[in-house]
Order: sequence, then C-alpha cells, then structure tokens
Amino acid sequence: MMSSLLLVRSRSPPSSSKSGQIKNTCLWRRQVATAFTSLYYTTQAWRPLRSENLLSIILNSVHFVLQELRPDDPSRADAEQIQAATRRATALTRQLLTFSRGAEPAAVSLDINGVVRDLAPLLVGTLGEVGHLELDLAVMPCRVKLARDNLEQILVNLAVNARDAMAPGGHLVIRSRHVTDASLERAVQLTVRDDGAGMAAEVAAHAFEPFFTTKPPGQGTGLGLAIAYGIVRKAGGRITLQSSPGEGSTFTIWLPESDSPSQPSLELIDVNPPGGAGELILVVEDDDGVRAVLERLLHELGYRVVASADADQALVLLARHPVDLLLTDVILPRRAGPELARLAQALRPGLRVLFMSGYTAGELARGGLASDDGWLLHKPFNHQELASKVSAALAAPPLAVPAD
Ligand SMILES: Nc1ncnc2c1ncn2[C@@H]1O[C@H](COP(=O)(O)OP(=O)(O)O)[C@@H](O)[C@H]1O
Ligand SMILES: [Mg+2]
Repeated sequence: MMSSLLLVRSRSPPSSSKSGQIKNTCLWRRQVATAFTSLYYTTQAWRPLRSENLLSIILNSVHFVLQELRPDDPSRADAEQIQAATRRATALTRQLLTFSRGAEPAAVSLDINGVVRDLAPLLVGTLGEVGHLELDLAVMPCRVKLARDNLEQILVNLAVNARDAMAPGGHLVIRSRHVTDASLERAVQLTVRDDGAGMAAEVAAHAFEPFFTTKPPGQGTGLGLAIAYGIVRKAGGRITLQSSPGEGSTFTIWLPESDSPSQPSLELIDVNPPGGAGELILVVEDDDGVRAVLERLLHELGYRVVASADADQALVLLARHPVDLLLTDVILPRRAGPELARLAQALRPGLRVLFMSGYTAGELARGGLASDDGWLLHKPFNHQELASKVSAALAAPPLAVPAD
C-alpha cells in the first residue's frame, strides 16, 4: 500500500514546483493559512467574553453537586452529563485559547526529554486501557526554545489522536534525537508514532487544517493538529505526517536546537494533591461566581480564606489578617494583580503569591503584567489544579516580584 507523506516546511519555501507533492503542499499551505487567519480573528473577538471564568464556575459547581449526591441518586446521571460536557467545553476552550495565543515566547530553553518524562503519567492516563506508552529518548538533553505549555499541548494532542485511532493493545512511541537537518543546522527531532488505524491520503492531506475532523460530533474539534502545526511553525520548526490505512501514523517534528542551558523541570501536578493545614489565603477575584467557587474549594482543601473583589480592599484585609498566600486574579478593575502583589509584599515581606488568569505568562508579560509561569494558575481550573498550585506556592520560596 502506498504510504501518504505530507511535508510541511515552514522555514524555506519549496524551491521547485515540479513535483506534484510539493504543488499540493503549497496549495494546502495556502488553504491552511487562510483558515488560520480567519480563526485567529474569531478567537480574538471571543476572548473578552471570559468563558474561562464561566467554565471555572460550572466545572467546580457540578463537582460540588456530585460530592453531595449519593451513588444511587436519580439526579446523578444528569450531573455526570453536565460534568462530561463541561470537561469537553473546557478542553475546547483551552485549545481555542492556545490558538488565539499562538506560540508563547520562550525566554529559556527547554529539555524536550524532561518535559516528556514529566508528562508521561498524564499521557499514560490519556491512553487509558487502550494503549501503552513507550519512551525512546536521546541520552543527552534535547534543548529547544519553546514554551513548556506549548510543548505539552502538542504532546497531549498527538496522544489523544493516537488513542482515538488505536485498537486495544496499541502502542504509542515517543522518540527524541539530535539530528543535523538539510541546511546542516543542529536540530532536535521528536517523533510520535502509533500503530493505530492510520489515515487515508485524503484525510492526511487535510489533517492539519483547523476544524478538519473525521470524528463524530462532540468528539473531535479538528483543532489538535492545527495547534501543533501553528506552534511548531512559529517556533521556526516543521512538522510532517506519514500515515496510511492500517499502518499507523507517524508525526515528526524538527525544532532548532538551543545552546542555552535548560530550565529545570517543574513538579508534576499530583492527582491527589496535599490539602492545607489551616493556612490563611487571601483571594482577590472580581468575578463573584469564581470567587465563591474558590472560597468553597479552598475551605474543602483545609485552608482558611478571606476574600475580596478588588485590590484596595484586599490591602485592608492584608493589614488585618496574618495571610500566608495571596491568590489574585491578574486582570482586576483599577489595580492589577501584579501591582497588588508588589504592594502586598512591601506590606508583608516574604508573602507567597499565586496569580490566576485565562491569559498565559507570555501574554501577561507582553501587557506589562509580569508574573512567573510557575506561579500562575490557568483558568479554567478544576479543584486538582487549584490544590496542587496552592500547595506548591505555599511550599516555595517567596516570589520575587519585579520592583517597578
Ligand atoms: N494518530 C492518528 N491516527 C489516525 N488519524 C489521525 C491521527 N491524528 C489525526 N488523525 C486524523 O486527523 C483528523 C484531525 O485531527 P485533529 O486536528 O487532532 O482534530 P480531531 O482530533 O479533533 O479530529 C482527525 O479527525 C483524524 O481523522
Ligand atoms: Mg485531535
């Protein structure tokens, strides 16, 4: 059987149009570029709706409801439906947020091997009962300039696709190597291969297009590969796909190798994160629904909470209470979260700070709202993400908030 190979080059345009393969690729690239541009503007217009807040409220409220219902309660199935649908909406929102952001600027380089190892438990969970994960990683670190969030998103999107294509007993192999590419530049090659159903040539030809999906409604968004493509392209790399029906699929990503030392890997999000021991948390969030959800979740986790809808009132509360952690939204009316953090730390040196936002660290930095990615809770969040970020922030050395 002929295998279909789709080459997507992003660094140099194809030098010849003789081969039909290259011509098709050019046509395909134009279609993708147009679709990308219109989707980009759509997602920009949609972001101020702040759906990350709405989803945080729904996701956590249904979690509270399920906690109260007995296993045989007749409403349980309905609540579980809401939970499942909200999880899907959350996953879609994350994809759209990533899409509207594009690639995050990466200040430091990242060791692909470290990220893959850190993410392995989550990928194993993604494959579930269906497939096995195998890692074949280069011995030496594979350093690239890429934001951690972006690399994780690519790996998760590829793993989800592999799982969907697999029969039980399938394999997903993630491989990394140091290579020298055609232009003799040092590159890192990341290969993600599955032995699932594979793709017909027509499917492979459209697979990277935004909203192209062969999955039933509600199961596919058609954004997974479009996002992977966009991130790799913006990082100066390229991604290819090789697949044929019955032969599985192989995605190969080339990224320029970086010389700078890599950032140490972050701690994994624990499935059962430790709760609190009565530490006092000052929550600053202007959305009433999100604030209420946060107060309740933090109480459940064993923390004490004081809360405020704005920064000025938060400073008053801070002066009155022995606060251990400031958990603040970044975008607040009048005084933004990072400014509040600076004032709060002047008032109480050594105070721990955890920011939360639907925006990423890169976007916040570009908007002059510096924060450190390690201490940013991404919205929409669920109770596990909240619990692990809060406990990590409390355990960490105090955050140095920039002086101006
Ligand atoms: N590993 C894979 N094996 C088989 N088909 C795949 C694989 N990855 C992607 N595809 C095909 O490409 C399409 C687009 O993938 P993607 O952009 O992630 O969107 P979605 O997964 O939401 O459909 C899928 O619907 C599927 O037909
Ligand atoms: Mg997908």
